[in-house]
Amino acid sequence: MKLLVFAGSTRKNSWNRKLANATAALARASEVEVTHIELADFDIPMYNADLEAEGTPADVIRLKGILHAHPAWIICTPEYNASYPALLKNTIDWCSSPVKNHADWGDGFKSFRGKVVGMLSASPGALGGLRSQSHLAPLLLNLHCWVAPQNFALGHAADAFDAEGKLANPASEKHVQAVIDQVLFAARRLTIPVL
Ligand code: FNR
Repeated sequence: MKLLVFAGSTRKNSWNRKLANATAALARASEVEVTHIELADFDIPMYNADLEAEGTPADVIRLKGILHAHPAWIICTPEYNASYPALLKNTIDWCSSPVKNHADWGDGFKSFRGKVVGMLSASPGALGGLRSQSHLAPLLLNLHCWVAPQNFALGHAADAFDAEGKLANPASEKHVQAVIDQVLFAARRLTIPVL
């Protein structure tokens, strides 16, 4: 089973990037192949159909391939104005847009259909960015992802990590592990093995 982990922030000291790091480290102990990507490593402009008509950026194609290759994902989303940030929306919009006359990516749903997605969020606030997840879930469902019912919002994120970047509170680690376990449980059952 291959698990993809990424955060919806490119900020240097992002809590969600720290949470994605901690999640990837926990998942590596779960007999799973973990790919942890940083959205900052993808050169993806703001979506514009005129720009797209000139050619889909190479990094969008690269990311479509990575998303497609992983049956299980965990997304760590920041909360901006009670929703998820533009970075995530823009990335998902590009990756779900069909590439005209392309042998592999003519189907916009291809990278999303059937993926099992676990949602985590982190925020300095008390609610941990939980409301961002309530907006992200319908977007993912619309793209035919299976959203795991188990989720976790890490509140007071500024106090949530130790000096090594690990989750300081064992209860938080337990909540993240529960999301990992459920995502892997479902992805193992929903993924048709390649013979
Ligand atoms: C925020 N932030 C925020 N936090 C929250 O818990 N609920 C919210 O609705 C918002 N709204 C919001 C709007 C805008 C425009 C900004 C810039 C910020 C604070 C946000 O959670 C905080 O900046 C986090 O640190 C962002 O996530 P990363 O980059 O640390 O992962």
